[in-house]
Amino acid sequence: MGSSAFGRAVAPRPPAASAPVEPYRIKVVEPIALPAPAEREAALVRAGYNLFNLRSEEVYIDLLTDSGTSAMSDRQWAGLMVGDEAYAGSRNFAHFEATVRELTGIPHVIPAHQGRAAEHLLFGQLAHRGDLVPNNMHFDTTQAHVVRVGATPLNLAIPEAYDCDDPHPFKGNVDLARLEELLAGPSAARVPLVMVTLTNNTGGGQPVSLANLRGVARLCRAHRKPLYLDICRWAENAYFIRTREPGQARRSVRAIGREVADLADGVLMSAKKDGLVNMGGFLAVRDPELAARLKEDLILYEGFPTYGGLARRDLEAISIGLAEAMDERYLEHRVGQVRFLADSLTARGIPIVRPPGGHGVYLDVRRFLPHLAPDRLPGQALVVELYREGAVRGVEVGAIMFDGSAPGSPPPLELLRLAIPRRVYTESHLRYVADVVGRVWDRRAGVRGMRMVEAPERMRHFTARFAPLGAPGVRSPRRRGTRGVSGTG
Ligand code: F0G
Repeated sequence: MGSSAFGRAVAPRPPAASAPVEPYRIKVVEPIALPAPAEREAALVRAGYNLFNLRSEEVYIDLLTDSGTSAMSDRQWAGLMVGDEAYAGSRNFAHFEATVRELTGIPHVIPAHQGRAAEHLLFGQLAHRGDLVPNNMHFDTTQAHVVRVGATPLNLAIPEAYDCDDPHPFKGNVDLARLEELLAGPSAARVPLVMVTLTNNTGGGQPVSLANLRGVARLCRAHRKPLYLDICRWAENAYFIRTREPGQARRSVRAIGREVADLADGVLMSAKKDGLVNMGGFLAVRDPELAARLKEDLILYEGFPTYGGLARRDLEAISIGLAEAMDERYLEHRVGQVRFLADSLTARGIPIVRPPGGHGVYLDVRRFLPHLAPDRLPGQALVVELYREGAVRGVEVGAIMFDGSAPGSPPPLELLRLAIPRRVYTESHLRYVADVVGRVWDRRAGVRGMRMVEAPERMRHFTARFAPLGAPGVRSPRRRGTRGVSGTG
């Protein structure tokens, strides 16, 4: 087992007998049902084999995303009832602003309706045509916003991030040598800011260590570049720092989160993740002049600075959710659920990104379906097969989602993410998912490839349509600018 400069390597664990006991009880239930095999097949055809096109009731266990899918607490629901829907100066904004200031220590707080709205505002102000934007790994919306302004996203995660088996405990870390090379090199003037994403969603929900973040901040100060953090999963990241990084075990998750924010010039957050809400986000910056410019854009695109595209009651739910996500019993259960599913799959011999990350289990598609070449879209083929087998909805995180628009970055991993919504599913749901994945694993040699028959230029994974390879009656493709990986055959 390897070790690392940033702390203990994470040892493979014996399969977990059970997930941690829930630190909550259930007050409201939402019925779900398993559609019959024929219904699933018909749904796949109607959806063009893209699970984003399914109706929610066609899905049994929905692991498409952990974003905006949390169950809110009774206190959050109560918070909605004290919404003060004043256009300007709502008391819920005051609470929200105070909460974000307290947790991050950053003074200028700008609400936005979700994370990509914050990205739109930030990159709209800071990045320009010809610029280079380094990150550990860009997520799809982040990458698209960088590209939209004519800049180039660079993924500078450590090499271990690209090895699904490497036991490095912080595979979200930035490669400091490569960052220094960039910031001290001939292209330095083209770098308007440095970003780090907590946790690294694209690379498996992998955390970034405090030591690494300190190193990034040191380089940014030395080369006079602002550091911005995407903190949408920072509570999970802080929990990993506390449990995996030497010297951090006695600190509270809140104190760690605060130190992380202290290193940055600003943060942006999709509160749909570690804000435990169904909608919302924000930007927080230290520079008052930048804040003023961002607020001008905010009024244009999102709304007045005391609501930023949200109902004021939503701001109240975020304020409460941000604090609840820092609760250590909640985090222990949350991360424990992900580990339980990961261990259940590993026990069956199924290849996944290890150690498991914070918000989902990522299947290693290349090793799951080695008989399918990249142009046969193995990630999409596997997504479809999990739905066909048991109406489980996951998402491809690979060559379809990241379609070569980050030149200069290593090719993406070929993963299938099973994201776990917060406080939504129980251990028996996760056991069911492990059984479904296990049944597909047992018949993996028979899984056929897919091809893309229709796709838009940008963010194509959301709306592309696919067809199974070798299926009879597939008509010739209608292409709308498909690029790169669309299968042939
Ligand atoms: N940054 C990261 C790291 C994300 O994972 C996401 C969204 C965003 C920004 C954008 O936030 O959705 O509120 O606009 N991730 C979701 C996912 C969609 O499924 O991982 P948003």
